[in-house]
Amino acid sequence: MRKTLEQPVPENLSPSVESRVAVKRHPLHPILVVYPVVCLSLLLPSDLAYLWTQDDFWARVSWWLNLMGLASGLFAAVFGILDMFLIRIARRHVSVWNHFVAGVMLLALAALGVWLRAGEPAAVWPWAVVQSSLCLLMVGVVGWLGGTLTFGHGIGVYGHTAKDYGADDAPGE
Ligand code: HEM
Repeated sequence: MRKTLEQPVPENLSPSVESRVAVKRHPLHPILVVYPVVCLSLLLPSDLAYLWTQDDFWARVSWWLNLMGLASGLFAAVFGILDMFLIRIARRHVSVWNHFVAGVMLLALAALGVWLRAGEPAAVWPWAVVQSSLCLLMVGVVGWLGGTLTFGHGIGVYGHTAKDYGADDAPGE
């Protein structure tokens, strides 16, 4: 049991680079990406539910998931792009560029889906199913690469240094 209320000092600090687009150090991009991740990964199950049941309800669900996935993805990407260009060290990591390219590909796929489904949400077979399958794949790729940035390289997190833990030999900012 701890004997004092002092903040414990970890033996090893992970690399951690503070997000520049954050509210009280809470990075905004990771908060916002949950919306496109959820919408665009539920698109394929919803398309398959439509093909299985032939119920127009599922075609309309797919339409809204695709539209909301695109809108929230574009919004989230703005904050990611800001962090990418405001954190110099982030741009030295190849994962940031891979994540950026994969993110743009995912948003292009989402835009393609809106175009395919506009006016005729029930025209799901075959191209919209191909599009929603590729979306699911790309959500995995983009999420994996984003996770590499955050959890692997510590990009866009709180940015703790040894100084935050009261250590004397804190590295300079
Ligand atoms: C296309 C432009 C994008 C850029 C330049 C970009 C950039 C970044 C950066 C710099 C980070 C590190 C955390 C931070 O600094 O905020 C990050 C993390 C992440 N990004 Fe993106 N991003 C983009 C689009 C997207 C999209 C469209 C998605 C999802 C649909 C996404 C999903 C993620 C995820 C899941 C993380 C890890 C966050 C976590 O797991 O908490 N990003 N991104």
